[in-house]
Parts: sequence; C-alpha cells; structure tokens
Amino acid sequence: MGRSCEIYRLDPEKPDRRAVERAAETIKRGGLVAFPTETVYGLGADALNPRAAARIFEVKGRPPDNPLIVHVSSLRMARLVAAEIPERALKLVEKLWPGPLTVVLPKSPEVPSVVTAGLGTVAVRMPAHRVALEMIEAAGRPVAAPSANPSGRPSPTSGEHVVRDLDCRVDVILDAGETFFGVESTIVDLTRTPPVLLRPGPIPVEVLEKLLGERVVVPPEARGLRASERPLAPGMKYRHYAPETPLILIDGDPRAVERVIEAAVREAVKARGMRFALAGPDELVDTVASMLLRRGAKPAWIFRLGPLYDTTVAARRLFKTLRRIDEVGAVDVAIILPFPERGIGLAVMNRLRKAASRRVEA
Ligand code: TXA
Ligand code: MG
Repeated sequence: MGRSCEIYRLDPEKPDRRAVERAAETIKRGGLVAFPTETVYGLGADALNPRAAARIFEVKGRPPDNPLIVHVSSLRMARLVAAEIPERALKLVEKLWPGPLTVVLPKSPEVPSVVTAGLGTVAVRMPAHRVALEMIEAAGRPVAAPSANPSGRPSPTSGEHVVRDLDCRVDVILDAGETFFGVESTIVDLTRTPPVLLRPGPIPVEVLEKLLGERVVVPPEARGLRASERPLAPGMKYRHYAPETPLILIDGDPRAVERVIEAAVREAVKARGMRFALAGPDELVDTVASMLLRRGAKPAWIFRLGPLYDTTVAARRLFKTLRRIDEVGAVDVAIILPFPERGIGLAVMNRLRKAASRRVEA
C-alpha cells in the first residue's frame, strides 16, 4: 500500500488560494507541508508546536542536534521567535527580507527547544516566495522548515524532487516548479561580534558587510573546508548534499587554469576503464573533455553547469545535476571542476566540498 498525501501543482505567481489555505490548515493542526521557497523546497511544521516539529526530524532522518530554520511572514512574527532583534539585524533584514538571508538571534521562550536543538539561539528567515509567504501568513504562525531532502542528500529544487524524496511521508506537498536560486539561504550569526558567516548562500558576504558597516568573519567551515569537532553551526559537522556516486572535486582557483585542467586530466586518466562523468564550468569542462578524447579517456557523461563567471547559473543547476549523476545510471565516479569563490560562487564551492568524497588540490 502506498502512502497518501495531497499534492497541489501551483502557479508560483498566482497560487491557488484553496491549496494555500489547505496547507495553512495542515500546519495549524500539527501536520507537515512541503513548500517552495526562492532557494530550495522546505519541509515545514508549526514552529511553536514541539510534536509537529519533532515529526520533521523523523521524516528527514535528521540528527536531533541539528536545529531548524524558523520561517516568518512579517517582522512582527520574527519578534515572536527572537528574544530581540538588535539594530544590527534590522540593518540587514530591512533591506534583504523577504529574501535568501537567515539571521541567528537570541531565541525567545516561545520557541520549543526541539526546534533549536536546545540552543539559546534561533535561526530566522522570511522567504521571498509568494506560496511560502501566503502559507505562513494564512497559518498565522512561524513555520520551522529544513530543506525537504532526506538528511545528507542534495536539496530539492523542484516539486518533482520533493515528490520523489518524501514519498508522501508528509500531509501536503505544494509544487510550484523550480526554485529561483537553487542553493539555500545565506546564514549569518549576529549573536557574535564580529558577525560570523555560518553558511554562504545567494546573498554575498560583501553585501552583508556593506549593509552592516562591519567585517563579517568567514571561517574555513563556511567555505566547506574542515568539518570541525565543535562546529559553529551544528549542521556543519555532517556530510551534506551528497549523491550516491562518489565525487572527486578538483579544488583550486579556476584562474589557475592550467593547474586545474592538469589535475582533472590526471584524475580522469586514472579513472579510465571506469564509467566516469565530468561536471563543472562550461569552459573548463569543454577543454578537459577535448584533451581526454585525444588520450582515449572519454567521459561517459558531461554536465556543463554554466559559465565560469556567472555562478548564478551553476547555483541553479547544482543540486539537479548531483541528482542526475545518480540517475543517468552506472556512473562509477564523477570528476567536478571548480568555480570562483565570488558572490554565489562561494555557496557553490561550499556545497561541492561538502558533497565530495575526495578533494584534489589543484
Ligand atoms: O534556504 C534555506 O535556508 C532553506 C529553505 C527551506 O528555507 N532551509 C534550509 O534549512 O536550508 P536546513 O535545515 O537544510 O539548514 C539549516 C542550517 C543547518 O546547517 C543548521 O545547523 C543551521 O541552519 N541552524 C539552524 N538553527 C541554527 C542556530 N540556532 N544556530 C546556528 N545554526 C543554526
Ligand atoms: Mg538542508
């Protein structure tokens, strides 16, 4: 017997009111709803209901020490979940909300400890997606939601991914097609001085620094290098975003083109005899592929993620491509070429480093 859930296909610009109401009702009575945001799909429940929030951990297979982001539809709602919204936070959220920015603030007693994994802080964000905002507004309460993938796997960037990943273990799925950014929100911890970037995302650090008028610390973990024993964000210590297929990431500044290409060719030649895939910036992938052809090491699959210097394209295609690498079948290993760590490129490299089973320094 298959499980059953309600799936609604929505126009992201003009979502059907009844479907949104239905999702809001489900949240209110303690159910689970998968919903679109501008970054990735979320798996949501009433953030003020500890039993509902606990179900999120169950369905995702998420370790209980990894806290959830609380989604709000107004500043008033943010004030309900955060003990205070300091001046510094206002500088950011007044300009960037709704949008792909999550701020870590002192938590209010309203938020059950299961949501924040027992921490004294809470991560808050106001998503810039009509469906998400209207659902939260209609529910009249904050919605706790991690990305809607099973723990450790690539995040869902389309309704199709969610339907496949969750297999109706939630009550309602709102499918509004593909998400806009394709990588999760930028997370900045404002309870520390200076503020610390916990996860790079669509809002670049440079933008945060400009609005704050102060430096933002970018620890190695935020670049995806070093999973420390006592991580800054609990989620940092787990492997993430990983497909089943092993990934070898050629890591280095892509401006050192020759070194990057040489390392990629070396790894590919080693993989000769296996079915290997090649993925990365269009220009680098093309060069490496043609060099390999001459050496009789032909990739079974080539995935062009987008131009080197417009990393927004790669961000949008990233998780879908990681899923495709598993789906095309019988790929033994995938060799991935690097993007520049500027703007959203930092988020792309962070996700790739966490997804990689091996990193080769170029
Ligand atoms: O774009 C996004 O942020 C998406 C959409 C659905 O909104 N959500 C998302 O949630 O990416 P999730 O659970 O996949 O990632 C949340 C991250 C985790 O790394 C978690 O450890 C961290 O936020 N986090 C949550 N609360 C925190 C807190 N109080 N202090 C530090 N890190 C926190
Ligand atoms: Mg996630």
